[in-house]
Amino acid sequence: MTGASTTVSLDTESSSATWEIREDGFDRERAGYHESLMTVGNGRLGTRASLEEGHLGALSGTYLAGVYDAHDSPVIDLVNVPDWLATRVWVEGRSLDVDTLEVVEHERVLDLRTGVLTRATVFIDPAIGRVRLASARLASMADRDLCAQRIEVTALDRPVEITVVTGIETERRNLDRLPAYTEEPVLPASRRWEKWARSNHLRERERHLAPRAGDVVTETLGSGVRIAVAYDVRPQSEPTHDGVQAQGGTLATALTFEAAAGEPIVVEKVVAYATSRDPGRTTEPRVRALETIARHRSSDFAALAAASREVWARLWADSEVRVSGHRKDALALHLGTYHLLIAANPEDPTVSIGAKSLSGEGYRGHVFWDSEILLLPFFLYTQPSAARALLSYRHHTLPGARRLSAANGTRGARYPWEAADTGAEECPRWTPDGQHRFWTRDEELHVTADVAYGVMQYVAATGDTDFLLEAGAEILVETARYWVSRLERRDDGTLSLSSVMGPDEFHSHVDDNAFTNQLVRWHLEQAGAVASQLATAAPERGAIVATSLGPDLAEVEEWARAAAAIRPGRESDDGVIEQFAGYFERQELPISTWDKHNMPQYPAGYHHFNLEDTTLLKQPDVVMLMYLLPDEYSVESQRVNFEFYEARTLHKSSLSPPIHAIVGLRTGDSAMAVQYFERAAYVDLDDNQGNTAEGMHIAAAGGTWQVAVLGFGGMRLHDGRLSFTPHLPERWDRLEFTVGWHGRRVAVDIDHDGIGLTLCDEGAEVEVEVGGQRTRLRPGTLHRVPNPC
Ligand code: BGC
Repeated sequence: MTGASTTVSLDTESSSATWEIREDGFDRERAGYHESLMTVGNGRLGTRASLEEGHLGALSGTYLAGVYDAHDSPVIDLVNVPDWLATRVWVEGRSLDVDTLEVVEHERVLDLRTGVLTRATVFIDPAIGRVRLASARLASMADRDLCAQRIEVTALDRPVEITVVTGIETERRNLDRLPAYTEEPVLPASRRWEKWARSNHLRERERHLAPRAGDVVTETLGSGVRIAVAYDVRPQSEPTHDGVQAQGGTLATALTFEAAAGEPIVVEKVVAYATSRDPGRTTEPRVRALETIARHRSSDFAALAAASREVWARLWADSEVRVSGHRKDALALHLGTYHLLIAANPEDPTVSIGAKSLSGEGYRGHVFWDSEILLLPFFLYTQPSAARALLSYRHHTLPGARRLSAANGTRGARYPWEAADTGAEECPRWTPDGQHRFWTRDEELHVTADVAYGVMQYVAATGDTDFLLEAGAEILVETARYWVSRLERRDDGTLSLSSVMGPDEFHSHVDDNAFTNQLVRWHLEQAGAVASQLATAAPERGAIVATSLGPDLAEVEEWARAAAAIRPGRESDDGVIEQFAGYFERQELPISTWDKHNMPQYPAGYHHFNLEDTTLLKQPDVVMLMYLLPDEYSVESQRVNFEFYEARTLHKSSLSPPIHAIVGLRTGDSAMAVQYFERAAYVDLDDNQGNTAEGMHIAAAGGTWQVAVLGFGGMRLHDGRLSFTPHLPERWDRLEFTVGWHGRRVAVDIDHDGIGLTLCDEGAEVEVEVGGQRTRLRPGTLHRVPNPC
């Protein structure tokens, strides 16, 4: 078997260097990494880039957004659903696979422009000579219920008999416990996963098999979601034998061919998914899956790829961040954007994006504040309909959030720290080894204010007040009610939040965390403003909101009083805001060692769970507050706090470096910006946390976009208009991107001399700010301004 496996080829000038992810040679140790990185998907589903025939140590999986199950397991899982790739190729009775045959060549390429993953592997065996197995696969962006696969087998040396067995595999298992290695694992990659518990979430309800087609309906054991998968196999050459296979969980078509040397045998397959939870669809899933197949009866792989490519072209036109002058950064931005685009589904308002998107089982597919704070900005400005769908998920899960609040003795709605399909709290109580209690589920309350922040950002960026009326206002009102009942009155009349955890997860059971208190204050103010605005600006509709939700004037005034009474917290003489009550008295522990990426390391003897008594932070907390509410803190205050907390932040979350990059740039400290950008942008490309095999760090992809556009591009919403103060890094020659704002599109083009802005569509002029100066953009006219920095 061949060894070396490289990820990116950056030594050519071709555009492929910034648009393609390549795997050269098969390396079992790196298989899991490639499986995540080269995931194909369309927001409705994601499929890891496992070899279609499987191999020892593979972590294959297809995940459907919103399909969760917790049957017989302590924590709910994003279900590893029936596999649509399942393919075995036999040549003269020998199985073409990397476990049994020698591999002489292996190459895979994911084309980020089109979402098509291609493969070419040459196997050799004395009995069959060299045989090339090539494949292509895609999850269609044009029809999100559809996937397509193409298999091509070529005997290179002599005529042989080839049998292609392809269909679906229903016996799937989730990795019940994700391995946590403190030291190098003893087992090789091929055997590593075998010692880990695997859990089953599916029961088969029915199956149907015809000569070149089949379908199966499975059901999740606990949540009862029916999943229908139908396939249709289309050989491009005539087989000598046409059969079916139905063993165990396999349902497949088996086609045998007599192949001349050098003459490829081609088999194509289309697969359709439908589930009983698909919103707005009432027809039985099996019927819908078969209809999808029928709809595409006359399209071959090339036609399906072309239709999908068209949608991809539109997605890229709205979303690409183009960097000139640094190919690896350009590739990393394309890769991150690709993964963001395959993570969200604008057509489904009942799902959000898990911490590892649909690319792996890390965090079991649970949804965190990552969605509103790290991911949402990308969608707000490039794919507003997807942003709306993501926030609609929070509306959809509002009943669960109400139940969670009630269960904790409070009113209104409290969002869970980790969410799945219902809004219930899904965060495990203990670490997998049972050694440490997760307090995040009990105390990381800020997620409820983060959701409100997301709603307000969405409305500010899109002007979509209908969303406010249909869903946003209800979220704001119900969550405001939660805060008012959770706040505790102190003897001095101020209101406190005790025993909470801010974004910095090293410190639990703290009182008056500045981030949480201030975001709650802001949240109550916004909820009050929205309730009043709706009542006056849209009296008829506002009245509807008022009657169905019931906030009367007295309640709105109560929110205002509560907001004003929330404890401001201590501030040092030089203006450092104390992270929580008593933080300044905790032990100072200097950061003294850095890893090879120049990132801080834990001081000797310390780890995630024993830093409570110190001032070290896992990730930005006060700095995050200033990032989210920049207009509330002077640049000088942001600078002082950034400097203080920068020296104490270990960045032990991939959410952390991008925020420090941007706040650093905004406060004049650009020293670390490029390094922090790299940390976020390369986290999966370079697997620099060693766990890309568990899935992509999708929040870091969102953070990467934010550093490029909101940091280096210097864009933000200010006083109701787009504002730009670019900070182009030395190593970039040019940065180009397009942003949407209130239904308009602005193309931005920054180089070291200036910034060019073009209003792309027809309509009224739009006022923007560049370097603090207002200017009006006229449709179709380039406005070029010398670089303000
Ligand atoms: C971070 C959280 C984040 C979670 C999921 C944790 O390590 O501390 O802020 O929400 O990962 O990405």
